[in-house]
Amino acid sequence: MAKKTIAVTGATGHVGKVVAMKLKEAGCDVRKLSRASAVPDDDLVVLTEAFEGADGAFLMIPPDFEALDLRRRCDELGAKMATAVKAAGVKRVVFLSSLGAHLPEGTGPVLGLHDMEERLNALGIAELVHLRPAYFMENLLGGVGIIARSGVYATALSPDIAIPMISTMDIGTKAAEILAEEPFREPRVRELLGPRDYTMTEVARTLGEAIGKKGLKYVQLSYDEARQRMLDAGMTAGYADAMNELSRHMNESPLQATETRSKVNTTPTTLEHFAKVVFRSAYEVAEGAVR
Ligand SMILES: NC(=O)c1ccc[n+]([C@@H]2O[C@H](COP(=O)([O-])OP(=O)(O)OC[C@H]3O[C@@H](n4cnc5c(N)ncnc54)[C@H](OP(=O)(O)O)[C@@H]3O)[C@@H](O)[C@H]2O)c1
Repeated sequence: MAKKTIAVTGATGHVGKVVAMKLKEAGCDVRKLSRASAVPDDDLVVLTEAFEGADGAFLMIPPDFEALDLRRRCDELGAKMATAVKAAGVKRVVFLSSLGAHLPEGTGPVLGLHDMEERLNALGIAELVHLRPAYFMENLLGGVGIIARSGVYATALSPDIAIPMISTMDIGTKAAEILAEEPFREPRVRELLGPRDYTMTEVARTLGEAIGKKGLKYVQLSYDEARQRMLDAGMTAGYADAMNELSRHMNESPLQATETRSKVNTTPTTLEHFAKVVFRSAYEVAEGAVR
């Protein structure tokens, strides 16, 4: 079989770097795109050239903490990416979407992904898959600072609602599999639910065990407190409000998946493994910094 060439956007990010690595392992030529690789995703000409002649593309819309209007920012980036993919005639596209992207309102940052799914659906791409993963375990890395400083883990999510969580290693692995597979046999939407659902209370306990803080407590922040923390961290009000809208949605209607859990949408990496292998080393760095 001829060697495939695949363009990977967000190639230095959590998911994109795994996609690029796994595609290389599968023998593909990989064109990595990100600002770090000097190929700005928001330059249409450069982007079209990067997609030209590619057999497939992995598309993602980068989070933009500085966006005043997150949905509009996604729209701008998404429009450029879609135009470039169409102009280059890329046959197979895997788009990094999210659980809940079928919903037209109330899901904060996921709304931009909903819009992008619709935009790509209209292009007539022969082989198009929207990957809809659950809550990334890597989001928990945002808690290393607060745990190191205050000894508790806190977000705006409810302590006792179980939500599906997935490692980005498993998302990137699946995306690469779909991009490399022959023949193509994927449905338009592929939900990925991680190994099982976890409550934030369980999350805190599991993280605590991994970092030698048995009994680490979880505290639910009010939406106002969560918003203020995001503003203090340099995010715009537009970004913080969108994130709060998503937290509220997850707290009030946690059933974001449209499928029931099955072998097909369950992925292997457990929270316990993530906590020991990924979270612990990030925590050790943060703890060293506050000592
Ligand atoms: N977090 C969750 O729970 C969750 C769940 C479902 C879906 N999602 C979606 O997953 C996506 C985030 O994936 P991720 O965590 O892998 O992302 P990430 O780690 O934040 O990586 C972002 C990537 O985009 C690149 N980038 C940033 N700004 C750019 C720009 N203006 N032009 C070109 N490249 C740019 C970054 O590289 P450089 O900085 O080098 O350019 C990096 O490679 C988002 O669309 C999010 O909505 C997230």
